[in-house]
Amino acid sequence: MTASSTSYTGRMRVLPKANEVCWCGSGQKYKRCHKVSTDPVRQGRISAIRQVPDSIAKPTWADGTSVERWDEPQVKSPEIIERMRRTGRDAADTLASLADIIRPGITTEDIDIAVHEASLAHGAYPSPLMYPGGPNPFPKSVCTSVNEVICHGIPDDRTLRDGDIVNCDVTLFKEGVHGDTNATFFVGDVDELSQRLVRVTKECTALGIQAAVPGNRINDIGRAIQTHAEAHGFGVVRDFVGHGIGEQFHTDLQICHYYHPRLDDVIEPGMTFTIEPMITAGSWRAQMWSDGWTAVTSDKSRTAQFEHTIHVTDDGPEILTTPSDTSKHPYWLL
Ligand code: MF3
Ligand code: CO
Ligand code: CO
Repeated sequence: MTASSTSYTGRMRVLPKANEVCWCGSGQKYKRCHKVSTDPVRQGRISAIRQVPDSIAKPTWADGTSVERWDEPQVKSPEIIERMRRTGRDAADTLASLADIIRPGITTEDIDIAVHEASLAHGAYPSPLMYPGGPNPFPKSVCTSVNEVICHGIPDDRTLRDGDIVNCDVTLFKEGVHGDTNATFFVGDVDELSQRLVRVTKECTALGIQAAVPGNRINDIGRAIQTHAEAHGFGVVRDFVGHGIGEQFHTDLQICHYYHPRLDDVIEPGMTFTIEPMITAGSWRAQMWSDGWTAVTSDKSRTAQFEHTIHVTDDGPEILTTPSDTSKHPYWLL
């Protein structure tokens, strides 16, 4: 059979027109209910910058001026690790709590409000807020990346629709250290390809973490991730990488999620870094919106991501972004 000949098997549902009543019995218009969005994600309206009270300790960029240094030592003292464990847990709890609000009809700004408020409730600064980069600092407290958005989507007034997937990337700064973690959530009922993409991305993250053991090389992490993604016919984004983390949000240690021969440094106990593979259903090439932040796949295929902050111990990887109750974390890995 040639690619251009189409055969239909199974029972077909005759779908309503956009403004007709949905087939599911909700009484809602189909376009507001079960219609899966194939529209590309567009830039929406971004609301005013939210304030953080003076009582909360802030990273250097909070006033919109300073940039980060990248030169922090990769091997951390036990005292820093203790602080990173607490901040990491608060970040993970904040991320896990989003499962209670993500559903069709809320906006990505609603997610931002929830993350901003949860951060302050933990006594933490939401690290993305005013983070330097692009033409302007990042204006919100979390990155929300819908469908073909690879990463760094800016929360705006776009309504989440049934069938969307949305990655929420939460980073908190507390006790002088950062905890960075993200997950891709389903919005209502999601098509099978997207479900498979999200499952495989979660598996890639777990395999990458398992490779973070002393004596392995940094590029063993990317090798494990790339092998699994490509075995499922998926792509690995090259333009964004995991990073060293600690008292700085991003240090100069890079963790590629594909095999990179030159990243042959040996993994040592005490290192802390993120593993955050972005896996695509189609092309792994990225394009940047004119906002200088939002990255989308060049063919607009869907993309998913998971992220954890990892501490390498003699016994293997410790996940610092472990929530207080892993059974309540809808996307917990292990
Ligand atoms: N949390 C992202 C990461 O995993 C970085 C976000 S920076 C921001 O590295 F400015 F876009 F928020
Ligand atoms: Co990160
Ligand atoms: Co992140």
